[in-house]
Amino acid sequence: MAKVGIFVGSSGGVTMGAAEQLQKIIKGDLINMEEDYDGLEQFEEYDVLLIGSSTWGQDDVQRDWVDPLYEMKNDEPDMSGKKVAFFGAGDQKSHGEEFVTALGEMHDLFAKLGAATGFGYWSTEGYDFKHSGAVKNGTFCGLPIDDVNQEELTEERISTWAAQVKREMGL
Ligand SMILES: Cc1cc2nc3c(=O)[nH]c(=O)nc-3n(C[C@H](O)[C@H](O)[C@H](O)COP(=O)(O)O)c2cc1C
Repeated sequence: MAKVGIFVGSSGGVTMGAAEQLQKIIKGDLINMEEDYDGLEQFEEYDVLLIGSSTWGQDDVQRDWVDPLYEMKNDEPDMSGKKVAFFGAGDQKSHGEEFVTALGEMHDLFAKLGAATGFGYWSTEGYDFKHSGAVKNGTFCGLPIDDVNQEELTEERISTWAAQVKREMGL
């Protein structure tokens, strides 16, 4: 059975809440980047990585991801053979010029390191934003959650996305 690791960085708890819901549906280990993460080797334990981060400061990843991503860029660990999908919170109204852009940044880095990242792509329909670095060929490269403006949609978006990822990854 594929071993699933849900790695999440969340400052206000929104992306963490999504991670907890995903864990209930998909199972696997939940790694809070602030408390449980202790180095790049931790990724090696898993076949499937669900990577969660909110977006801050007009296109940055959540602060607990800054050092790990820096290390990944420097050390270039081999991620081939891993299936990876991305999710994270943002605010399409107040920060609609870089809505959930962190997902795009992380997606591109994991892909560059050899991971299979074509899972959990999500339609832009139902969102209203100016620009997002997470949109690839017209589609989000992961699941955007907007608890600030569309809280009523969050739970269903996560459960639909979880079912999609399970199906696409054969979990
Ligand atoms: C100073 C500041 C900067 C932000 N920048 C962005 C941004 O560039 N893009 C975006 O989509 N959301 C942005 N947000 C919104 C947060 O990502 C949003 O509040 C999210 O729900 C936080 O999720 P978390 O609780 O998982 O950390 C910003 C919020 C603040 C307060």
